[in-house]
Amino acid sequence: MSADHTAQTIHEVERLRAELDAQGKKLVFTNGCFDLLHAGHVRYLHDARALGDALVVGLNSDCSVQALKGPDRPLNGQDDRAEVLRALRAVDAVVIFEGERATSLIEAIRPHVYAKGGDYTVDSLNREERAALENARTEIRILPLVPGRSTTSTINKMLGDKTSHRLRIAILGSGAGSNLRAIIAAVQSGALNAEIAITISDHADSNFIMTARDAGVPAQVVDPGSNPRKLGDAAQKEIFEHLERARVDVVVLAGFMRILKEPVISAYSGRIVNVHPSLLPNHKGANAPQLAIEAGELETGCTVHLVTSEIDAGRTLAQARVPVLPGDTAETLHQRIKTEEHKLLPKVLNEWRELGLPVRGAGAP
Ligand code: GAR
Repeated sequence: MSADHTAQTIHEVERLRAELDAQGKKLVFTNGCFDLLHAGHVRYLHDARALGDALVVGLNSDCSVQALKGPDRPLNGQDDRAEVLRALRAVDAVVIFEGERATSLIEAIRPHVYAKGGDYTVDSLNREERAALENARTEIRILPLVPGRSTTSTINKMLGDKTSHRLRIAILGSGAGSNLRAIIAAVQSGALNAEIAITISDHADSNFIMTARDAGVPAQVVDPGSNPRKLGDAAQKEIFEHLERARVDVVVLAGFMRILKEPVISAYSGRIVNVHPSLLPNHKGANAPQLAIEAGELETGCTVHLVTSEIDAGRTLAQARVPVLPGDTAETLHQRIKTEEHKLLPKVLNEWRELGLPVRGAGAP
């Protein structure tokens, strides 16, 4: 075996696997960057080790961390990372690998069990790695994330937001982008003390994304996946990563026509806000102005509310009323509702802290 503080070679780990096999014991494998070790990692590795009799960690090399996480990472060099990991009681061996995928390590080690953190699901595992695992008949186990303990949240805590109290917001939208334009205008005029840290759309050619680019605010397009109604697991995870990287306090859904699920919904619990074109709880879901006309209502409006896993059902923060006029079509009515949304949404965001709502770090999960 190599000196106690350095990483093992792949051949050493192959030998370890053969020894365990001979004794009818199980080798557990996991892989990751671990570029700033925190309690979340330690608990995760402990739980992974408990799935078998020895734990081998595939550690992304410095080049591979940089390719995955951007030029500012890694925070610690690969030899230091390997040394720290090897000092943990749960870890039996560490192998450094190049490239973004651990496929060749999986093929060589053929682990009995593969552990991965709960920011993945079996379906969002990299396809190539998953095929190698299935080929090796490896049991795949997803372990729950330790809330609030991630490398990004640790970095954010260290950086703090001492420079300003401006709310850092993310705006997600799919369509026309008029609410986005209203928020941008409110920020530019000083009526809204916030910084648009990122905008995200599921449509590359939407007016929403054009608006963001024209205004020079950071804009990301996320491929929603093949289902035209749902947002796939990989997209959910990608959105979470964009939000984390942008150190977002509040996520604003401004005409985002997909349903956000894990990991965003838990990680940003109490910090996701949606604008909906009806007086909720009336007319949830799509086509709310049309539904108000069909119901023969004389008055409808818009609602700004917190987002939970139940559609259009979280706590109402503010509402504005709009009359339904004789001769209104869904379009004319929706247009007048939007005029109210454009005032209501920036107002709620500007009063966020006064409303006692959480921001990143302080009290937020
Ligand atoms: C807004 O009216 C918003 O309330 C609605 O989509 C429109 C987006 O307009 N959202 C929903 O219906 C969500 N259920 P915009 O793209 O011009 O801001």
